[in-house]
Amino acid sequence: MLNVTDLGSGTPILWVHGFPLSSSMYENQLAIRGVEHVMPDLPGFGQSRPQGGGMTIDGYARLMVAELDHRGIDRAVFAGFSMGGYICLAAARLMPRRLCGLILIDTKETADTEEARQGRYASIEKVKKEGVQPIIDSMLPKMLTSDAPPETKVRVREIMSSSTPEGVMAALGAMAGRADSSAVLATIAVPVLIIVGEEDSITPPADAERMTKMIPAARLAHIAGAAHLSTMEKPEQVNLEIAKFVSGI
Ligand code: MLT
Repeated sequence: MLNVTDLGSGTPILWVHGFPLSSSMYENQLAIRGVEHVMPDLPGFGQSRPQGGGMTIDGYARLMVAELDHRGIDRAVFAGFSMGGYICLAAARLMPRRLCGLILIDTKETADTEEARQGRYASIEKVKKEGVQPIIDSMLPKMLTSDAPPETKVRVREIMSSSTPEGVMAALGAMAGRADSSAVLATIAVPVLIIVGEEDSITPPADAERMTKMIPAARLAHIAGAAHLSTMEKPEQVNLEIAKFVSGI
């Protein structure tokens, strides 16, 4: 059983979190009204227990759709940040009928390069020996701009610190093994909103611009003054874009 926050009523949005975070990375998005927020913690993150063993991005996508099934939700807007975006693109390939809209936040469609994949395997070895702290220390400076308020930095660290070694290792393996989703983009038949922090160095604006061109009905929103974790660094701007998008669905 996954821990899931389920609040509000209206068009359902399934929020899929990034790495190494939890559904709490979307706590500011709960201010968006007129929607049902379904916010699961992936296994081994936040308050969800690890599942034991390896995971795949397709496996995470099936777990997310199972959460819709538990709630009797047939179709939802899928919103994914970074690794969550990889998962939403897998859902768009495996179960396209379940999506009535798609929000891709600071993410990309391409698979890992061989170098990135080797880096993930090295990180798994590090977590085995030293736990999750070195991963958090290396990711944190890339999540926010140096101008982000100190309390936001503290909160992001706190959210990351709820990640378990098992969850982190499973997600690293899943991301390393993920398929390239380029071919999926042209098949997406629902409205798509793409959001990118202008200062995102992990999935830079060029990634978002490329995806926008490859998807039939996509609109791109740049978020000024945000790095990778735009939902937490510039929540008001992100929420405005999302509320506008969802009201048009
Ligand atoms: C994330 O924010 O989910 C990760 O940076 C994604 C990745 O490492 O590819």
